[in-house]
Order: sequence, then structure tokens, then C-alpha cells
Amino acid sequence: LATAFTTFSPFSASLHELALMTDAPRDLASFYADALGYDLQDVGDAWLGRARGRRLRIMAGKPKSLAYAAYAVPRAKDLEALAERLDKAGVEHETVDVDGLQPAAIRFTDPDGNVFIMGVAAAAGAEVTGAVAERPARLQHVVFASTNVNRLVTFFIDIVGFALSDEVLDDAGGLRSAFLRCSDEHHSLAVFAAAENRLDHHCYEAEDWGLIRDWADHFADLRLPLKWGPGRHGPGNNLFLFVHDPDGNWLEVSAELERVAPDRPAGTWRHEERTLNSWGEGKLRS
Ligand SMILES: [Fe+2]
Repeated sequence: LATAFTTFSPFSASLHELALMTDAPRDLASFYADALGYDLQDVGDAWLGRARGRRLRIMAGKPKSLAYAAYAVPRAKDLEALAERLDKAGVEHETVDVDGLQPAAIRFTDPDGNVFIMGVAAAAGAEVTGAVAERPARLQHVVFASTNVNRLVTFFIDIVGFALSDEVLDDAGGLRSAFLRCSDEHHSLAVFAAAENRLDHHCYEAEDWGLIRDWADHFADLRLPLKWGPGRHGPGNNLFLFVHDPDGNWLEVSAELERVAPDRPAGTWRHEERTLNSWGEGKLRS
């Protein structure tokens, strides 16, 4: 299937902010302040959580879903090129202003209805650094489950401009997971096949294995049990652990995520437990 996709990626970006919806914004924001070290700010219609390298907006809405996922691109011309690709494909988009991105970011909706905002990164120094400097981990990727993973992956690669790093195929050759990059990091977005369209999880990259220990100890102090891991993913080769937030959203802390050379061919993995976790139990639902 890899050959069905354009392998050249014109899209360079990093995950900037997620806007997570819930029935209980204050409670969920409080959880993220304690568990992930976010400084919280009441911005009227949402709680804005900020810490070094990570941002999360928490607002009223359908629980366990995102109002949007925002990515930052390095230059204005990257955004112009994206707008041109969306226009060419007939994908509607509009401009919006989002805190932390330069004015006139682009908002569009993918074929599953997930909302994306992509804007030029604000000048260095505009980002507020959090009080919690220990246990670094930057917001790094988000994963959506989809009933039509082929359509979604084609949209992200052929129109938005992500590149395919690895795909997971079942024995019949069906696409079960696709890991998509927009930098040298193995994936900043992934799509898992599922029986429904939904948010699957979001992830913080801690870089260093020792920090996986520190995060696990921190979660233990909060009496927040690990739900999966520590383990090592096949695609991306990253070490991981997962916890749940009070709404049941899966949160991942990762380390050692693979860096991918631009000319590396897309890889193919079997849909099996070992692909999900080379150390043991495979638990995600795809
Ligand atoms: Fe992940």
C-alpha cells in the first residue's frame, strides 16, 4: 500500500496544541495541572494549560473528543503552500487566530470530521514557560481511530503533505495503522483502523528513558496507575507508558522516538501484538 501514496512530503510542522473537550472542564483541567504539570489560565471559554513544550486547551463539549489539533509550521510560505494544496483538492478552509501561532492560521476538517488548525509558529520568546521544569516532555503526536483509515491516510499524505513512515497491515493486506511524519520524527500523527471514528490518544515525548521512570514515579505519587507499559513500540521504536485521564482518554509518555531520514522508504509491519509492544502485551485497539 505504501507505493499508493506520494512519498515526498512538502509539509514540515510540529504538534502545537490540542483542544480537548469534556463535560467537566474544571475537573479535567485540574487533573492535567497535577498530572502533566500544566500552568492553568482561565481564558473564558476554556482552560488553557501551558508548560514548557506542551499546550492543552480544555473546554466544554463532547467528552473524549478534540475541538481541534493545531500544528505549527516554520514559515509563512509553508502555510501558503498548504492553502494551495487544500484549494487544489477542493478542501474548504478558513483563517483563524490561535494563541501561540501567528494570526491567520488555517483551519480545515479532514474526511472524518476531525478539525485541524495549522499556523506559523509565533516568534521565539512568545511561548510562556511552565513552572514545572522537571520531567520535561513535549506535546508530540496525536492519534485518531477511523472507520476509513485508507481515505484518511490518503488525505493527510496526498493533500496535507505528511509522509508515511510505517504502516501496519493485517494478513489480508488491509491497512490497520499508519504512522505519518511532518519532520524527522517518526510520527507526529497516526491513524488506527477501528469500528468508530474517535480520538485514540495523545503523546508527550520525554526523549530520555530515565524520564519514563520519573514520570511513572510521579504518576505513582498521584496514585495514578499505569494502564499500559512500560514497553517499546515496533513502529517508531519508542519506549512508552500510558495512563488514563478522568474521562478515560489515553495519555502516552514516550522516549527515544525514531528519527527518520528523508529518503527512508516506508516500512511495513504485521498486525500482531509484537508490533504494538516488542516487550510484551499489545493493548491498543486497532
Ligand atoms: Fe502514541
